Formats: sequence, structure tokens, C-alpha cells
Amino acid sequence: MKILMVCLGNICRSPIAEGVLQKKAKEAGLDWTIDSAGTNGYHVGEAPHLLSQKVCLSNGINISSQVSRQFEKEDFDRYDKIFAMAKDVMVDIKNIARNKFNPEKASLFLEALYPGENLDVKDPWYGNEDGYLEVFSQISQTCDAIITNYISSQK
Ligand code: 4NP
Repeated sequence: MKILMVCLGNICRSPIAEGVLQKKAKEAGLDWTIDSAGTNGYHVGEAPHLLSQKVCLSNGINISSQVSRQFEKEDFDRYDKIFAMAKDVMVDIKNIARNKFNPEKASLFLEALYPGENLDVKDPWYGNEDGYLEVFSQISQTCDAIITNYISSQK
């Protein structure tokens, strides 16, 4: 399965989600490809935010080699599943993808853990380190749910 994590800048939330799900999928013996992208393109070419790198590294995940890129409509051809970190990101995804938008492939990331609640992963960009720790924990729990949901759907 090919999965794309999407946020606004592709420097804070989706790089964490990419790194965490890569590690957990590997540990679960799943041959998944995980990538990430951002809808706004402001940080294209940059490495993840230093606090995203720090919180991942302290959990044994090195995301320093990731490079920010912008989400594009062809991502709907390339990926089986596209997770938006928040509702504003989903609006952007629809606007960028236009006729390629596929509602069967796209969903809000936190729906895997809190179905039907329509929740956002809060953007840590404007806050301090605590925000990154909180986001990491939420992302980690949700990645566990993505894997558990997938395994039970295969039974
Ligand atoms: P992210 O956080 O979407 O989690 O990568 C942001 C990073 C930068 C900006 C917005 C959100 N920005 O507008 O520059």
C-alpha cells in the first residue's frame, strides 16, 4: 500500500507522520511506502522543522533526510490512501486535485483513531516544543490505529 501524509507546510506534522508510520509499518511486517507533502509550497526543498526532527529522534526515528515538496493532483494516481492532517488541508487538497479528487482515497488522519469526530492535528508551527510533543503522541497513537484497522480489514 502507498500512503501519502499531507499538511500545509510539509515541515511539521506530515514529516512526523511519514517517519512514524514508516517505522511502525516495518515493525508490523507491512511492505508499505509512506511519503508526505504540503499544500502551500512555502517550504519546498527544506528539511523538517528542527523540533519535529528532535521529537522523532528522541523516539528512535531519524527524519532529517526528508525534503518538503508540494502536494500535486497526480498524487491521487500515485497513492492508495491520502491522509489530510486537518480540515483546512483537505480543502486545499480538493482545490489542487480538482477532477482527480477521489473521496475513497482521501480522509482526515485523526478519523483512524476517532472515527466520525472530524478532528484536526493542531498545527504546532506557531507554538513551542510542548506542541510538538503533543502532536507526536497523537500521531503515534493514530498510526497504531491505522495499522490495527488495516490488519482487521484483511481478516
Ligand atoms: P505544517 O506546519 O503544516 O505542520 O508543516 C506549518 C508550517 C509552516 C506554515 C504553516 C504550517 N507556514 O505557513 O509557513
